Amino acid sequence: MLNFNRTRSQPRSTRSMSLGGMDYVDPKRKGNFVGKVFLAAALTALCIIMIKRSPSLNPPSPFSIREPGVTHVLVTGGAGYIGSHATLRLLRENYRVTIVDNLSRGNLGAVRVLQELFPEPGRLQFIYADLGDKESVNKIFLENKFDAVMHFAAVAYVGESTLDPLKYYHNITSNTLLVLESMAKYGVKTLIYSSTCATYGEPEKMPIIEITEQKPINPYGKAKKMAEDIIFDFSKNSKMAVMILRYFNVIGSDPEGRLGEAPRPELREHGRISGACFDAARGITTGLKVRGTDYKTPDGTCIRDYIDVTDLVDAHVKALEKAQPGKVGIYNVGTGKGRSVKEFVNACKKATGVDIKVDYLPRRPGDYAEVYSDPSKINRELNWTAQYTDLEKSLQVAWKWQKSHRNGYGILSAI
Ligand SMILES: NC(=O)c1ccc[n+]([C@@H]2O[C@H](COP(=O)([O-])OP(=O)(O)OC[C@H]3O[C@@H](n4cnc5c(N)ncnc54)[C@H](O)[C@@H]3O)[C@@H](O)[C@H]2O)c1
Repeated sequence: MLNFNRTRSQPRSTRSMSLGGMDYVDPKRKGNFVGKVFLAAALTALCIIMIKRSPSLNPPSPFSIREPGVTHVLVTGGAGYIGSHATLRLLRENYRVTIVDNLSRGNLGAVRVLQELFPEPGRLQFIYADLGDKESVNKIFLENKFDAVMHFAAVAYVGESTLDPLKYYHNITSNTLLVLESMAKYGVKTLIYSSTCATYGEPEKMPIIEITEQKPINPYGKAKKMAEDIIFDFSKNSKMAVMILRYFNVIGSDPEGRLGEAPRPELREHGRISGACFDAARGITTGLKVRGTDYKTPDGTCIRDYIDVTDLVDAHVKALEKAQPGKVGIYNVGTGKGRSVKEFVNACKKATGVDIKVDYLPRRPGDYAEVYSDPSKINRELNWTAQYTDLEKSLQVAWKWQKSHRNGYGILSAI
């Protein structure tokens, strides 16, 4: 585990201090005065060094104490796409934030942007650690006083999960268990969990409501559902306040252009539709591959519910504010409107101004035909409604960032 933020005053390197020898001098001589001054200065310096080295006199890191009026949120996966946007919103709302990320998929550049925006002590610290490492996770909770956890960190590609399912069960299910254990051990009171509509699979009846039966059809959805089940079972005997947010398909980026979505180039193959559209529009790929045109939908392509990341992080803040001890709230976070891949591609062409070449290919394993939400529960209970529902506008905002960040965050994102 590597803590990028020096949260405590580091002990000074031990410098041996010698007062030096002093020759006997006549007290009445002028030199005696110089000697006394030297001795006093040396003793003062010694005291200062001892005070600085004394842990009991060092001010504790603001992240390691609970401060009245300050809510300290651990954002796992905060270097990633959604986690970084959530961190920005939390910091703007005066929360104290610790990001934990192993940078396997996220970007140090996003953390740097956030640190530059909020450089004041006690606002944001970044801890480089892997949530699969039990000792590191325990140490993070031991050394920091969190009021809440927003657990975003995960591998999150349906296609990849069908190729490497064990990675998904490990990274999603097992790591959530470790986070939850540490939260319980150190008395962290609130959990906001990033779940997904993939836990529902392909229900017969649309739109999806929260009590629609969960029958995930790919390892990604199954791993998230297992994590949800662990959280439920734990909650039955716990006072923890839990909110499970099941996101639909997330698009867009910070309207002020500070953050964006910058997935790894090697993940392009598994990537999400907006990234694939932008890559095609920038000429990074030769065109867009639409997989599946024979689904039982009006135009034969898949239907999804696209939720803007700004709306999504707003749902998180509302969930955090309204979470109640001993209760689990489950909410769909979507617009309630399904849009086909063809519609999406047309919106992307308009937003980018590029006539993207589209190749139509056979279906991808693990995909489902039609998924869209009924968000009335979250509208009603958390007073949340999606505001950014114009697909083309959301894509325009994201495209603006993409165009000005051709190289993503432009710096090495792995350590
Ligand atoms: N993007 C979507 O459309 C979508 C939809 C539904 C749910 N979700 C969920 O939202 C969350 C965030 O997704 P995202 O799109 O921002 O993905 P992302 O890949 O951009 O971010 C995930 C972050 O988690 C970090 N991470 C992964 N494994 C880690 C580990 N073991 N230890 C520490 N850090 C680790 C990555 O480095 C990355 O920064 C995920 O839980 C995902 O399942 C996303």
